Amino acid sequence: MTQEHADKSGFETRAIHAGYEPDPSTGAVIPPIFATSTYKQDGVGGLRGGYEYSRSANPTRTALEGALAAVEDGERGFAFASGLAAEDTLVRALCRPGDHVVFPDDAYGGTHRLFAQVEQAWGLGLTTAAVSDVDAVRAAIRPGETKLVWLETPTNPLLTIADIEAMAAVAHDAASLLVVDNTFATPYLQQPLTLGADIVVHSTTKYVGGHSDVVGGALVVRDHDLAERIGFHQNAMGAVAGPFDCFLTHRGLKTLGVRMDRHCDNAERVVEFLTGHSAVIDVTYPGLPDHPGHEIAARQMRRYGGMVSFRVAGGEEQALAVCDRTRVFTLAESLGGIESLIEHPGRMTHASVAGTELEVPADLIRLSVGIETVDDLLADLDRALSGG
Ligand SMILES: Cc1ncc(COP(=O)(O)O)c(C=O)c1O
Repeated sequence: MTQEHADKSGFETRAIHAGYEPDPSTGAVIPPIFATSTYKQDGVGGLRGGYEYSRSANPTRTALEGALAAVEDGERGFAFASGLAAEDTLVRALCRPGDHVVFPDDAYGGTHRLFAQVEQAWGLGLTTAAVSDVDAVRAAIRPGETKLVWLETPTNPLLTIADIEAMAAVAHDAASLLVVDNTFATPYLQQPLTLGADIVVHSTTKYVGGHSDVVGGALVVRDHDLAERIGFHQNAMGAVAGPFDCFLTHRGLKTLGVRMDRHCDNAERVVEFLTGHSAVIDVTYPGLPDHPGHEIAARQMRRYGGMVSFRVAGGEEQALAVCDRTRVFTLAESLGGIESLIEHPGRMTHASVAGTELEVPADLIRLSVGIETVDDLLADLDRALSGG
């Protein structure tokens, strides 16, 4: 699909067609897996299509990167070996030791560990702030030092909402760049670059891949200079996604729109069920009118996603028991796949932030609501909550 055509197309058309034209030599409709590390040159420096070595570029990755850029309304996409690899590459591309970053106070635990234990040791200053609070973020910025304001929205696992447009204004006033981790929302539900963000980050392991069969990460930008710096570091640091992983991620991306609608349909039914259950004391979902970020979410998201968190009346012991008792919801880390997952953030995904300001409640359960038959999901939760 040509760039001009991609620009005018709807989301699903871009997800399916952008980044790739049927292969000129065979007509292959789907990008082949180019399992090659190097490329024949037609005389020294005579590269075919610019391909020289697969760390620098590989056609299977090029196709995915083009599609990622198109669905995020960006100019360039970059695919990495994992979400954390994407984040680390971004920090090294845009910061130097001595620079400072403002960071969410309830970010994904692994991202916090990367910043607190790896990037800080490298010399990066870090201040955590509640990203739902524009004034708190403004106060955390150190003029002249803060290079990045980092958001997740919704956050993992407390589903806090940040106002992307307002945060972009705050970051840009201080000559900082706004980074948005769009893993939970996905480009189908929210497009941060169109709201003023400078860089979008993804763990494509989650909804973009969508089938729990591949680990990957991505960065998407609009600005040419940013793209050049990230592209240089992607090659210089080498944490690229391999062709097999790119193939799977790209295949997942093509159905993102239909999957997200079903994830949202099922999550809404699960929220309704949990809200009325006597064993549940608190349900967190941005689609609920009493969620503190509901109005902002309604403005910047198409729908509210497939992630639901809730607390149980019986404390940590009951939370662990519920996680153990479900049969359709699989007890596992990660999220965003077609199958429903349940987890205990305090002991699992967020164990690395225990004892920090990012510690999560011990009675909290996080659901990644999949796309199974919703009545089976409700019956499973009912059985688990009733002790059956
Ligand atoms: C919001 C968010 N960002 C980043 C990551 C890190 O991605 P990966 O596990 O692909 O390295 C995760 C992983 O769970 C995540 O949930």
